[in-house]
Amino acid sequence: MSSFDFDIFNGIKIGIIGYGHLGQSIVESLIHHGFRKENLLISYKGNPATRERIEEMGLVSCISENNKIFNEADVIFIMIRPQDIISLKGILISQNKLVVSCLAGLPVEVVKSIVKTDTCRMMISGPDTIAAEKGVAAVYPYNELVGCILKKMNLRIFEISDEKEMDIFTTGVCLPAALLQEDNEVLIKDAIHEIGNECAMFVDLYEWAKRILPAFAKESEKVAYMARMITKGGVTEAIIDSLKEGELFITALRKGIAHSKAISQEMNKSLLD
Ligand SMILES: NC(=O)c1ccc[n+]([C@@H]2O[C@H](COP(=O)([O-])OP(=O)(O)OC[C@H]3O[C@@H](n4cnc5c(N)ncnc54)[C@H](OP(=O)(O)O)[C@@H]3O)[C@@H](O)[C@H]2O)c1
Repeated sequence: MSSFDFDIFNGIKIGIIGYGHLGQSIVESLIHHGFRKENLLISYKGNPATRERIEEMGLVSCISENNKIFNEADVIFIMIRPQDIISLKGILISQNKLVVSCLAGLPVEVVKSIVKTDTCRMMISGPDTIAAEKGVAAVYPYNELVGCILKKMNLRIFEISDEKEMDIFTTGVCLPAALLQEDNEVLIKDAIHEIGNECAMFVDLYEWAKRILPAFAKESEKVAYMARMITKGGVTEAIIDSLKEGELFITALRKGIAHSKAISQEMNKSLLD
């Protein structure tokens, strides 16, 4: 039995920085699984459409300034675009807080250098997989409390022993969108085999992606599903753009992995400048 098997959902406050595709789906899942909104703090950048979505969920009372979230929440999930992390530079944070960075491509040490507290990195599959309770996540370095929260949300957790595997995991969680864009099964299988030889977890993620792909009654539903998986400037977008340009499936996946690494280098550079 884990040391967090007491009712963690009533024992902690959770902060959500960013209420976009991912932030909203995590909030909905937390609430759906019994997390009380009194213990939830949410921030966004100020987009009126985002406020409307928060209102629709009955969560206006949860809206908080980032400063307050970093002081009051016990666990703070950062769900903004990687490029926006700079906006958190210099933020003051109370002691004993845990930050969970969900920013694709950003190494845990980079985030830690900004928030200056215990930090782990989490990669998670797209919003629809979370809502359908078919999502997967990886946490590096593994943190038991975060693991408990994710298990409460019925997410399957993949073990990551080396942070470099995060780039491959990140590309793996983009597979549902990539499989909807590519229909040549031979090219798909060749690519999975090639990357799977380098990292066996990728084959597992492919099997997961095939299982969770929904059937769409209309093309517009498929387009909306894919849109929710795409963060502007992110890894899924890099993969889908490559496929749309007619590149091979393996090329698109390699571009996804490379893009995840590039975000990390770009952020390292801009933080040092
Ligand atoms: N979408 C996915 O399937 C997925 C999966 C795994 C990981 N991720 C990662 O999750 C992160 C978010 O992705 P997303 O697709 O949810 O992006 P998104 O839809 O563009 O949402 C970003 C959110 O961040 C808010 N924001 C920006 N700067 C902020 C600040 N300083 N303080 C508070 N909120 C701020 C924005 O506010 P406004 O609404 O006011 O503009 C928006 O609500 C990315 O780093 C991505 O790599 C996404």
